Amino acid sequence: MNDKLVVSDLPDSELKGKVIFLRVDFNVPIRDGKISEDYRIRRAVPTIDYLVDRGAKVIVASHMGRPRGKIIKSLSIEPVASRLTELLGREVKFVGKVIGKEVKNVVDNLKNGGLLVLENLRFHIEERNNEPGFCKELASLADIYINDAFGTSHRAHASTFGMASHFSVRLAGFVVDRELKFLGKLLDCPRRPYSVVVGGSKIKDKIHALKNLIEKADQVIIGGGVAYTFLKAKGINVGDSITEDEMIPWVKEALDKYGDKIVLPVDHIVAESFENRKNLIVVDDEIPDELHGFDIGPKTAALFISSLKGNSTIFWSGPMGVFEVDDFSSGTTHIAGAIALSTWRGTTTVVGGGDSISALRKAEVLLSEISHVSTGGGASLEFLGGNELPGISILNDKKN
Ligand code: 3PG
Repeated sequence: MNDKLVVSDLPDSELKGKVIFLRVDFNVPIRDGKISEDYRIRRAVPTIDYLVDRGAKVIVASHMGRPRGKIIKSLSIEPVASRLTELLGREVKFVGKVIGKEVKNVVDNLKNGGLLVLENLRFHIEERNNEPGFCKELASLADIYINDAFGTSHRAHASTFGMASHFSVRLAGFVVDRELKFLGKLLDCPRRPYSVVVGGSKIKDKIHALKNLIEKADQVIIGGGVAYTFLKAKGINVGDSITEDEMIPWVKEALDKYGDKIVLPVDHIVAESFENRKNLIVVDDEIPDELHGFDIGPKTAALFISSLKGNSTIFWSGPMGVFEVDDFSSGTTHIAGAIALSTWRGTTTVVGGGDSISALRKAEVLLSEISHVSTGGGASLEFLGGNELPGISILNDKKN
């Protein structure tokens, strides 16, 4: 269920000629200036079409990567503006700025149905710091605020949170609406048994969500970099693999309390280092000193696949290894394939996160073979963990 006002709840007459600040999440993978995965951009098109078709003037704004207030050319939004022009088949203006006279000038000259893409919001440190002056200046550009950046809604940043309170009309776009409806059902009453598969590199980013999910799910399968900290907490040698030692006390507690529902790797693909990976080996249980684990091994893949069978709901977030490199992609592609198969067997499957979408593509799984491919990584994890997302809570409630 979504109890937030959606853009389509507003009469068309309220949109015509109005300037809309549309926060989207166009944080997509770009390599050598080329977008390698544009799911998030394509998903935002219906909201943009809807606004443009009703004669609104639309400012599209997003972050890209984590430039921490510095202008980093490779993190410019410009390639996204070009992709949007191709996708929409209409003119999209781009200003290499976020605020200031030049932006104001372009906004003032937008025609009804015109589109303007701003530069990377995070080129200003004030974005991440939710700085009040920056929020006010951003808000002064528009009449109506729309959040369609579900993937960034767990961040209380200027464009996802602070600036919104300057508007009386603060709406959800269609991406956010769909995510809230689908994930909301999963949060309230998942069909059981309910399994969560967590990978990726850091526990710290996921701790709040993990705490809740471990409690809610019937089974939690842990792979990727996250698994090494769990194994270390159990006293298993993980060699030089990445671990977060400060998380070990919490992990020990989680293992004591919920150990019977946590499934961990039993073998690993290891190498001397990421650069020096000529001599890949598979090791059972312990990883010898001076070696790094970069992917789950074949026994673990088989164990995880069999643990996924018979579930009614599966939520997957985060790869099982450094899947971008073929040598370490086998665990992730096996899990992607198994989840797609589960959909065909009648399981409700949800995959979240930019990495996981790239992983699905690498595994040649069609996005239509997953019940819901979320545009959020951290955000879907936080939401399903039962945490409030600031970028959602700030929007107008339907009942008001
Ligand atoms: C994401 O890719 O998960 C979102 O765009 C949020 O990015 P962030 O973790 O850098 O805030």
